[in-house]
Amino acid sequence: MKKHNAVIFDLDGVICFTDKYHYLAWKSMADELGIPFDEQVNDRLRGVSRMASLEIILEKSDKKYTQNEKEEIAEKKNNTYREYLKTMSEADLPADVDETLKELKNRGYKLAIGSSSKNAKTILERLGLADFFDAVSDGTNISRSKPDPEVFLKAAQFLGEAPQNCLVVEDAASGIDAASAGGFDSAGLGEAAKSSKCTYPLQSIKDLLCIEP
Ligand code: BG6
Ligand code: MG
Repeated sequence: MKKHNAVIFDLDGVICFTDKYHYLAWKSMADELGIPFDEQVNDRLRGVSRMASLEIILEKSDKKYTQNEKEEIAEKKNNTYREYLKTMSEADLPADVDETLKELKNRGYKLAIGSSSKNAKTILERLGLADFFDAVSDGTNISRSKPDPEVFLKAAQFLGEAPQNCLVVEDAASGIDAASAGGFDSAGLGEAAKSSKCTYPLQSIKDLLCIEP
């Protein structure tokens, strides 16, 4: 029996692997600035807004940057990132994600995106998903990024559903924290599955079909 009416998906690292492009774009900025940056620091950037990500990277820098300099660095990173996005197409929608989304829709769930990214709509277009979701809540309609629950609360509001009727699917610890703070159950992939606040740890996105969310 269904436990929820709707499923709200994080985008980067859940629907597609744009997380690798975030990593490469930040890595080239960090190298240019002479700041150490590795996969461990990168994991802390998952779900976190662009400017908050930069603050985390700058923790390892001896130099103090002005607000203007920070904005320039973030813009340059975003330009590099958007160059990577131009290489994406429908072929970058993993088959297991495609099948899971279609099957959940067949089973009558409302489906939404809850992403901190201001590039979410560009990515959905490239994946051929521009019109697939019932609602898209992203970095353009929030003022606080994960672990604040705002992005998921807005997604639930756009769907006309209460948080307890929506399941959040995440790859980021910050996203599981956000779901929990907003009163949502959550399903976690990768690092997110290790969080004590995660309701359903998953091995693969297709497990969603077995747990009958
Ligand atoms: C999240 C990513 O989805 O979006 C973060 O997990 C990223 O790594 C954030 O920093 C903001 O993305 P963008 O595209 O607005 O820079
Ligand atoms: Mg993510």
